[in-house]
Amino acid sequence: MKILEATSLSHTFEYPLFSDISLSMNSGETVAIIGESGIGKSTLLHILSSLLQPNEGAVELLEKDIYALNSRELVKLRRDELGLIFQSHYLFKGFSAHENLEVASILASEPIDETLVSRLGLDDVIKMKVTQLSGGQQQRISIARVLTKKPRIIFADEPTGNLDNKTSLEVMKIFEEYVQDEEAALLLVTHNEEFAHRCHKVYKLENRVLTQVK
Ligand SMILES: Nc1ncnc2c1ncn2[C@@H]1O[C@H](COP(=O)(O)OP(=O)(O)OP(=O)(O)O)[C@@H](O)[C@H]1O
Ligand SMILES: [Mg+2]
Repeated sequence: MKILEATSLSHTFEYPLFSDISLSMNSGETVAIIGESGIGKSTLLHILSSLLQPNEGAVELLEKDIYALNSRELVKLRRDELGLIFQSHYLFKGFSAHENLEVASILASEPIDETLVSRLGLDDVIKMKVTQLSGGQQQRISIARVLTKKPRIIFADEPTGNLDNKTSLEVMKIFEEYVQDEEAALLLVTHNEEFAHRCHKVYKLENRVLTQVK
């Protein structure tokens, strides 16, 4: 099943970032986007994940033209189908790590996966307030929170940026199993070449265009 279809995307901030980018993803697929710092990867991810309307082009998620939806439809799509793991973690700061997972669990009517919490090495910190956690622990909680929602597509912007090698590899394996088991999709932005090449497809953003390199 087609999960994402982006057509002829172009975007300019102070200067043109990219033009005429097209990309499609099916269920069960993992895709990585690589490229130099400042080239526009996060911007592209924001556009593909409904957070930023491009200057030109269209994005369909689950066969819905996302920038043509009204705000109620868009909120519903984001809540039910999209998993966003970005550099800022969007955790509820006044809550404990576990309460953050409970919120996701209640909203999605899905149970908290305690095995996942253990695999992410979070057992010892799960009762602590988010503000007391390290950057990498917060990152792992946000990964657990997003997976608890059971999204159809995960957009992850350097999700292992704050993590050591062993934990990063575990996160990659968790993503891969999730995508396979749930017939979901993963779009990963990373500077880690090894993790990029674990994905089914790899694209490089360079010279304002997106080129498939695997
Ligand atoms: N909201 C914004 N307004 C103006 N310029 C922006 C905005 N967001 C990003 N930019 C600019 O767009 C360019 C691309 O930024 P982006 O964050 O997409 O790069 P990136 O490829 O994700 O880099 P990194 O690997 O360092 O995360 C940068 O020059 C940045 O300053
Ligand atoms: Mg970025």
